[in-house]
Amino acid sequence: PSGAHVPALVIGTGYGGAVAALRLAQAGVDVHMIEMGMAWDTPGSDGKIFCNTREPDYRSYWLRTRTKAPLNYFLGFPIDRDIPRHTGILDAEEFGGITVYQGRGVGGGSLVNGGMAVTPRRENFGAVLPSVNPDEMYNVYYPRANAELGVGVIDPAWFDSTACYQYARVGRKHAQRSGFPFVFVPDVYDWDYMKQEAAGAVPKSALAGEILYGNNHGKKSLQQTYLARARATGRVAVSPLHKVTSVAPASGGRYTVVIEQLSTTGAVTATKTVTADRVFFAAGSVGTSKLLVKLKATGALPGLNGEVGRGWGDNGNVMCGRANHMWDPTGALQSSIPCCGIDNWAAGGAFAEVAPLPTGIETYASFYLSITNNPNRAQFSWNAAAGRVDLNWQAAWKQPSITMAKTIFDKINSKEGTIYRTDLFGVYKIWGDHLTYHPLGGAVLNKATDNYGRLTAYPGLYVIDGALIPGNTSVNPFVTITALAERNIEKIIATDL
Ligand code: FDA
Repeated sequence: PSGAHVPALVIGTGYGGAVAALRLAQAGVDVHMIEMGMAWDTPGSDGKIFCNTREPDYRSYWLRTRTKAPLNYFLGFPIDRDIPRHTGILDAEEFGGITVYQGRGVGGGSLVNGGMAVTPRRENFGAVLPSVNPDEMYNVYYPRANAELGVGVIDPAWFDSTACYQYARVGRKHAQRSGFPFVFVPDVYDWDYMKQEAAGAVPKSALAGEILYGNNHGKKSLQQTYLARARATGRVAVSPLHKVTSVAPASGGRYTVVIEQLSTTGAVTATKTVTADRVFFAAGSVGTSKLLVKLKATGALPGLNGEVGRGWGDNGNVMCGRANHMWDPTGALQSSIPCCGIDNWAAGGAFAEVAPLPTGIETYASFYLSITNNPNRAQFSWNAAAGRVDLNWQAAWKQPSITMAKTIFDKINSKEGTIYRTDLFGVYKIWGDHLTYHPLGGAVLNKATDNYGRLTAYPGLYVIDGALIPGNTSVNPFVTITALAERNIEKIIATDL
């Protein structure tokens, strides 16, 4: 309620926020989590909490009247459709040069993502987080994060035999025939559950094309892991459909936090003011960066340093499809959970996931999401005239990613005698270079904050999410976000409380 005081307030319920809430609560601190998205704990009229990728409805997008599917064309036809405006689960947030996809709801990105839970190769870690000791990460915090998240790898024997990974076996064959290292990618999806889906023994999720708009079964989102354990402490409260708009110093070393309550059509139904001893910014790379840049520029937190808003990257995301020969079908049934990748990071700066096209029909297409070593970094800035935060990423800044991805797919195409698909992202458009799933940076560790996420000008304010990571993790980011949050909160609890 308005006027209340909380010892620790956490903005956002994604990976960073969930780690902070659990560890603070275990240390005896009462925590209140503020989440702008919905709770996602109540079924709709169809009995399901989440809608299917093939039938997007009011639940699919955050306050849009038309879907904005990442793969927006098929066979040259646009596939987006009208939907009612609603506080749906996937935000396709549009900046000038890039669309940034993010999860909205209790669980943040874990609600919508593919669950690929990848620890960077140790030799790449120095470039990922240069100020962090790799020994402590690889000995303590990565193992801790993987254990809490419930990370597992597909049974290789089942992989070799199941129809739903025909597409991935084609991906493996093509990678290996061109001499690229093929790797299994761990995931938080329950692999035993998926086997039972294939056997027809349980309700289907990965094998029914669920992904992007939530999985009704199988996926261990934060709701099942960190957040469940946090709630079980009895010290963590969560307020969904509440959005933090301001944090400013109050008397007694406290902070005043202004929060808007939202209706499911996005209207502000109440504005509340609370105080907190400590505030953890865990609104995601974009959410945290936008808040900090606005609060610095508008005078609420003028002492934030000049690194705030800088160092934002897209994790080098770029997508593409290849057209296979008729003797290389990828299968009508495709598990929506990717399980393998092609590692050409050292030689070509690209790590490509063999991704599904779960359309339910044979497409003869191989589809890939590549993470590349794109060096471009963007900056958030306050646009006073428009009253919003802008991001200066340029569409052309994806070119290095395309060049790096081509080190894999040009070679495979040449070996296989195949071509790129030109019908997935528009008419005669090969590269999905307009988007990212992996926003990182904007309040970079040891630059905007100290080496543990403290905003040192304001004792008691912390950043603890993907905003800390300087733009690239060389693999999918959430294990690194989680492990870094584990490292930082341990230090903060030991020294600041
Ligand atoms: P995260 O974005 O998870 O959480 C932030 C939360 O804060 C959100 O719930 C948001 O609604 C809330 N919030 C924002 N502003 C707020 C405000 N002002 N007030 C209150 N609440 C606010 N990664 C990976 O490792 N493997 C994968 O397979 C995938 N796949 C994937 C697919 C898709 C479609 C997407 C969109 C993303 C992925 N990712 C992924 C990326 C991964 O999900 C992402 O890196 C993490 O969720 C980021 O974690 P954070 O804790 O930084 O923020």
